[in-house]
Amino acid sequence: MAILSPSILSADFVNLESEFKMVKETGAKWLHVDCMDGTFVPNMAFGYAATKSIRAVTDMVLDVHMMIDKPIRYVDAFCDAGADYLTIHVEADTNENTAEAIKKIKAHGVKPGISVKPKTPASAVLPFIKDVDLILVMTVEPGFGNQKFMADMMPKLAELRGMINQYNPDCHLEVDGGINLETGETCKKNGADVLVSGSSFFKAEDKKSFVKQIEG
Ligand code: DX5
Ligand code: ZN
Repeated sequence: MAILSPSILSADFVNLESEFKMVKETGAKWLHVDCMDGTFVPNMAFGYAATKSIRAVTDMVLDVHMMIDKPIRYVDAFCDAGADYLTIHVEADTNENTAEAIKKIKAHGVKPGISVKPKTPASAVLPFIKDVDLILVMTVEPGFGNQKFMADMMPKLAELRGMINQYNPDCHLEVDGGINLETGETCKKNGADVLVSGSSFFKAEDKKSFVKQIEG
């Protein structure tokens, strides 16, 4: 069994509350919130104020993905906003600051995650693997929805599954970018247990069946 985390980057921003209700009715348990600063990635999306407003209207698990330079500056704000999982990028700061940011997240009782962009090797997460609850493998260059899945990330995903089994078996292994029923299956075979899906989920005609199939 895998967990689907629908990415609200593909939702209707004018009607977010009804979108969250709809997502919940499909049986999905998590909600993926993409936060972008226009520096770490060439796009902007939800910040901590928006995350707080989202928290106020949904009890789904908030899976917050910070695509933000030097995230240590904002992790307290995102934790206070109500993130359940708060994922930062290993490329966004020095290892020392990344370790410090993870500590801060944990001090709030929030579950920290660490993410790798496509060109970053699996080994980059090793210094943090015992301290995180989630590792996120990007299967597109972060920044935009509706991009093509990078199947060449699968060896890295499998390598990270091996590392997780060895060092922190309870840690989730999440994939994000271009996930549909077919690519989701490939990711599960390579060790993923949490699947983010934006455009494919929101475009699916029968979303309940999409959730069932992708999680099953
Ligand atoms: C991209 C974001 C993703 C995005 C995925 O940088 O991190 O979460 O919403 O969208 P799809 O599923 O359309 O690739
Ligand atoms: Zn994301």
